[in-house]
Amino acid sequence: MKKRILITGGAGFIGSHVVKLFVEKYPEYSIVNLDALTYAGNLENLKEVEGAPNYQFEKVDIQDAEALDAVFSKHKITDVIHLAAESHVDRSISDPLAFVKTNVIGTVNLLNAAKKAWGEELDQHLFYHVSTDEVYGSLHDGGFFLETTPYDPQSPYSASKAASDHFVRAYANTYKMKTVISNCSNNYGPNHFPEKLIPLCINNIKNMRPLPVYGKGENVRDWLFVKDHARAIDTVFHKGKPGETYNIGGFNEWKNIDIVRLLCKKMDEKLGREPGTSEQLITFVKDRAGHDLRYAIDATKIQKELSWEPSLQFEEGIDLTIDWYLQNQDWLDHVTSGSYQDYYREHYES
Ligand code: NAD
Ligand code: DAU
Repeated sequence: MKKRILITGGAGFIGSHVVKLFVEKYPEYSIVNLDALTYAGNLENLKEVEGAPNYQFEKVDIQDAEALDAVFSKHKITDVIHLAAESHVDRSISDPLAFVKTNVIGTVNLLNAAKKAWGEELDQHLFYHVSTDEVYGSLHDGGFFLETTPYDPQSPYSASKAASDHFVRAYANTYKMKTVISNCSNNYGPNHFPEKLIPLCINNIKNMRPLPVYGKGENVRDWLFVKDHARAIDTVFHKGKPGETYNIGGFNEWKNIDIVRLLCKKMDEKLGREPGTSEQLITFVKDRAGHDLRYAIDATKIQKELSWEPSLQFEEGIDLTIDWYLQNQDWLDHVTSGSYQDYYREHYES
């Protein structure tokens, strides 16, 4: 059967890299990108594939169950890779309900649409749910997140993602839907919306604006280049075992303050500034409420069972990322105009 894959959230940061990888690598598949184009979705992220014969776009909100049914039937969707979500922890703290609506109800709508469309042949189709390592909570005493680590979400965002993961497993158990889930660590790279730490700092360093570091900057994240996550999603989609979970990460832990200092150093060099210029912009600000101390993924399972591993060293990835932002001023201007200004003022300046 020819694959007609519905990728949700394909206009966002990670989704756009997944769409591009699938459209370019698999001309024999049809790829339908479904996205509501919220503040985080941007069709400029997809200009490389816009006219490709195996690519189509549907502007649909996953909260709209009827519209989802129509997309399944119009495109005779065979498989789903689900990335659409509200993804920013800080926004989940100020508006948790938006996260319930998209991440929980939207995911259940999508599961229902797939179940309805695939009817008696649920076992011939795959529902792949893309999730986060934040569902495992915060590591305080060393160790790593394994696929078997109990869920312990701490923010409204991670609670909503945990709930969506549980619904996917419940549909596998109850209705025998063929599902797979992956939980990934922090991504970085081109097209990252500048509300997240790395692109926010790149943009602010460029414009000589303060670099807001929450608390003491001691929190630790495990960073993975976005194209390596997209490669992992390709691997799990094609080789993952139904019913399984795969943790994806870079074995690459950094304290926030060290990342910010690295960005300052590299950007001083690239912009021809005196060494130490950008570091003066570092400003320690009020901590994020309930801020998880450390995330760290043990990605041994996907490495051993599916032969995936990151392709880039962190510093190479950071160089590529900074260069992309310096070369794509139009993209930055577009996404930082309008509502971004309001968000920034409200979150950082009030
Ligand atoms: P993003 O915020 O950049 O993009 C989300 C996309 O989903 C946007 O294009 C947006 O328009 C779309 N969307 C939002 N609400 C929608 C709705 N109701 N209906 C249809 N589309 C909607 O997010 P991202 O960082 O690319 O994350 C993608 C997925 O990967 C999410 O499920 C996230 O939880 C997960 N994830 C992200 C990271 C990370 O570091 N960014 C790490 C692990 C997992
Ligand atoms: O771990 C995977 C998760 O990574 C994904 O599921 C989320 O969708 C994604 O947004 C990301 O969540 P984080 O909260 O870790 O990412 P963020 O870039 O918002 O923050 C990274 C760290 O930097 C975190 O410890 C908070 C801190 N931070 C963030 C911002 C925006 C600051 O110190 N200052 C800031 O202004």
